[in-house]
Amino acid sequence: MNHATMKAAIRPHYGPAEMLEVKEVPRAEPKAGELLIRVEACTVNRTDCGNLTGFPFVVRFFTGFPRPRHPSTGSDFAGIVVKTGASVSRFKEGDTIWGFHDHGIGSHAQFICLPENAPMARIPDGFTFAEAAACGEGAHYAFNFINKLDLKEGENVLLNGTTGAIGSAGLQLLKHKGLLITAVCDTDNVDKIRALGADRIIDYRKEDFRNDKGRYRFIFDAVGKSTFFQCKHLLEPGGVYISSELGPYGQNLYLSLLTAFGKGKKVKFPLPVNIQRSLDHVLSLMKTKAFRPLIDRSMHLEDIQDAYRYVASGKKIGNVIIEPFAGRDSGHEQVENMKEATANA
Ligand SMILES: NC(=O)c1ccc[n+]([C@@H]2O[C@H](COP(=O)([O-])OP(=O)(O)OC[C@H]3O[C@@H](n4cnc5c(N)ncnc54)[C@H](OP(=O)(O)O)[C@@H]3O)[C@@H](O)[C@H]2O)c1
Repeated sequence: MNHATMKAAIRPHYGPAEMLEVKEVPRAEPKAGELLIRVEACTVNRTDCGNLTGFPFVVRFFTGFPRPRHPSTGSDFAGIVVKTGASVSRFKEGDTIWGFHDHGIGSHAQFICLPENAPMARIPDGFTFAEAAACGEGAHYAFNFINKLDLKEGENVLLNGTTGAIGSAGLQLLKHKGLLITAVCDTDNVDKIRALGADRIIDYRKEDFRNDKGRYRFIFDAVGKSTFFQCKHLLEPGGVYISSELGPYGQNLYLSLLTAFGKGKKVKFPLPVNIQRSLDHVLSLMKTKAFRPLIDRSMHLEDIQDAYRYVASGKKIGNVIIEPFAGRDSGHEQVENMKEATANA
């Protein structure tokens, strides 16, 4: 009988961050076809915020109804395979791997058990666990939005929300395709966004991108703060608008259907699918150093409530890391700064 325990962020039902409790719980044992993984790093991301609260309601059809399927939250990880169940062939003990699943995998914990065919891959050389954990969620969505487009080298794209997890990943994926990127961000982050490959930057504190004189083949609003009608005049004939949000009254969904035919300007609202394909694509870029995630800060598992509050504030820069085995003291100063940022948001 297994008496091993672990720390995990546990919630009794869907609800706010305040009900999350870090508890000592029994550690799962890998069944046939499963891996036991020691979680060295994971993120708290916007997908986790939806999975925690169960809103929009539709997420519950994927994450569990009426109660969450996983008592602990978390949708991504980077860690070490410490044990394999019978008949596992894809990975072996000691492999360092990373992965993501939008339905949640309970990775805000020190250990997780996953089927070996879950979306994941080996961590390439030169990446820390924290960096690898941050290569999943935002990159998966960015890849799914971008791979529905017929992108040609040298075409103009305007990217709003470049400092988010999706935006910072999208910027690098678009850059790799040879597009000319005009990136919108705050004054404080101009250097970071330029370093990720932006060709031109619009500082939103000084200028509203909707008044820009440029014309674009694609507009990608990675934080979903604009609408098609606010941006339509910025699109070239036949240009495409994509947003990461449904928009007012879910308009991006029906506009994508209404504009699908004909030669006019279009809206696309792709549904993200095939996570393994996204991870494989990002992995190929990680290996050539064409992709490196933007990291805001690292926090301890004990500070999970603060991490959720900060992520839900919409102010994070790229990715917020949780290191379930790190000492709490190491991140103390950052946690205090983060609390201040959340209070001012
Ligand atoms: N469609 C899907 O399948 C899907 C999946 C996951 C997430 N989402 C949605 O996609 C959106 C982005 O997710 P994410 O994880 O990338 O978000 P995130 O990391 O939380 O994005 C936060 C960043 O966005 C920037 N930002 C906020 N308002 C802005 C504005 N008006 N103009 C420019 N930048 C702004 C913030 O910078 P400042 O502090 O400088 O403003 C911050 O750096 C979220 O709304 C999320 O709910 C959609």
